[in-house]
Amino acid sequence: VVAIASPKGGCGKTTLALNLAVSLARGGLRVVLVDADPNGDILSAIACRSRATSGVFDALSDDAEVSSLAMETAIPGLSVIPAMGDEIPASLRGVVPDGGLWRRMLEGPRQDADIVLIDAPAGMFGVAGEILDACTHVLGVLQAESIPKRSFDMFQRGLLARKHAPEVVGVVLNMFRRSHSASVSVLVEAGQELPPKWLFETTIPRNDVFMDATERGMPVILSGSSAATFVGGLFDALASEIRDRLDLAECARPAQPGAFLL
Ligand SMILES: Nc1ncnc2c1ncn2[C@@H]1O[C@H](COP(=O)(O)OP(=O)(O)O)[C@@H](O)[C@H]1O
Ligand SMILES: [Mg+2]
Repeated sequence: VVAIASPKGGCGKTTLALNLAVSLARGGLRVVLVDADPNGDILSAIACRSRATSGVFDALSDDAEVSSLAMETAIPGLSVIPAMGDEIPASLRGVVPDGGLWRRMLEGPRQDADIVLIDAPAGMFGVAGEILDACTHVLGVLQAESIPKRSFDMFQRGLLARKHAPEVVGVVLNMFRRSHSASVSVLVEAGQELPPKWLFETTIPRNDVFMDATERGMPVILSGSSAATFVGGLFDALASEIRDRLDLAECARPAQPGAFLL
């Protein structure tokens, strides 16, 4: 159970969670993607918000069986649990600080999948903190600009402050621009300052394909252009790094029709 987390909003957690989930599923894993950000919009990003009637926040407030809320997607192996709910549950209002609630709730999806990805709200405390406590692993998202970089210090400090801190599977640099010195500085500093091996080899560039994909309501890799295919390939590489780090066996990929050397 891997939370996608960062101290700061807008650095690409939702984008990464969705595209990574797609790559992991295309690689043959059974993936459940849980949208746990009340503002988050995994469903909007895949243009099916109107299809969902209930979601993870219903399960929190009335003990509904969360697995039954999972929606199958057009990608074999990938299902999504939406961030819906009739009312704002007590735990979100800060009334019931109960990390165990999330852990119990994630039991079901955990049985059904090889990997559960959770798109967490921004921050390392409050609801985001409760979600972190309920996860076995966390993947940090570092936006490659100087101000987000500064706030990323809170990622490590926030984890140290938790009683049940999840293990860090890695940190991915997002919105990287090799033509911009601030972006390159973040890469260099992250390499020097973060614990060894936290930073993934794969870095996600800042690219317009993300906006195009969102407008078309689909993950990047399916949106068709050659730039999108390239960025989609990066997510495949990131997915493969994560599989290695988590010891999830590589599943046989379906044979590509007409392999190009034959
Ligand atoms: N690598 C990227 N290049 C360009 N735009 C990006 C990239 N990653 C994310 N974005 C855009 O940045 C905005 C915030 O991303 P989002 O995933 O919603 O962040 P978060 O979930 O952390 O708040 C979105 O409009 C998204 O399309
Ligand atoms: Mg988000």
